[in-house]
Amino acid sequence: MSIGEVLLRPLTRADFPLLVGWLAQPHVAEWWGPPLDADAVEREYGPSLDGTDPTRLCICTEGDAPIGFLQLYRLSDNPDYVQAVGNADAGGIDFLIGDVTRVGQGIGPVMIAAGCRLLWQLFPEVSAALSGPSVRNMRSRRALVKSGFQPLHQVSVPGEADDEFLYRLPRPTAA
Ligand SMILES: CC(C)(COP(=O)(O)OP(=O)(O)OC[C@H]1O[C@@H](n2cnc3c(N)ncnc32)[C@H](O)[C@@H]1OP(=O)(O)O)[C@@H](O)C(=O)NCCC(=O)NCCS
Repeated sequence: MSIGEVLLRPLTRADFPLLVGWLAQPHVAEWWGPPLDADAVEREYGPSLDGTDPTRLCICTEGDAPIGFLQLYRLSDNPDYVQAVGNADAGGIDFLIGDVTRVGQGIGPVMIAAGCRLLWQLFPEVSAALSGPSVRNMRSRRALVKSGFQPLHQVSVPGEADDEFLYRLPRPTAA
């Protein structure tokens, strides 16, 4: 199946029911963590929408259809995570395709590339993008490599069941 136009737009509270549904999908929950109900989604993501948490949240659309979710953040805003993984100069990118019918068809790398372009715009001070999927999440790891990320090393993050494998993409230099 071909890939339609992949775009990002800001998450709004009107997207919360969709997000609750995506987080409950087994292919997402396996890697993203336990599903969240509506109240938990409000607690987790509401502060970013209100601007009290600097993490930026996006819905990924393919054509007219919402298919995925991304969060973009400065690692320096998350000191505990920097303590574990270093890369304090980087911006973090986390991503999921919630629509299971669109998984495994090459959209993830396109979505990740769009996320990185937005990361460069939102956070001019970050010098690289960093992502740390579970060492077991081979699809995510491969999608990052297909997006141009370079593998760094495996790291243990307190509170996480699996080690992460870190991938880093330097900010492109201006042409
Ligand atoms: C991770 C995710 C965004 C990747 O997007 P995608 O569109 O499914 O990725 P692709 O279709 O490009 O597939 C990625 C690659 O992984 C490979 N792959 C899949 N399962 C694999 C496995 N078990 N071992 C090795 N490679 C695997 C595929 O073959 C493909 O590589 P190829 O194109 O070279 O053949 C998407 O699968 C997703 O949202 N998954 C659920 C949530 C998640 O894991 N989020 C990431 C948290 S860090």
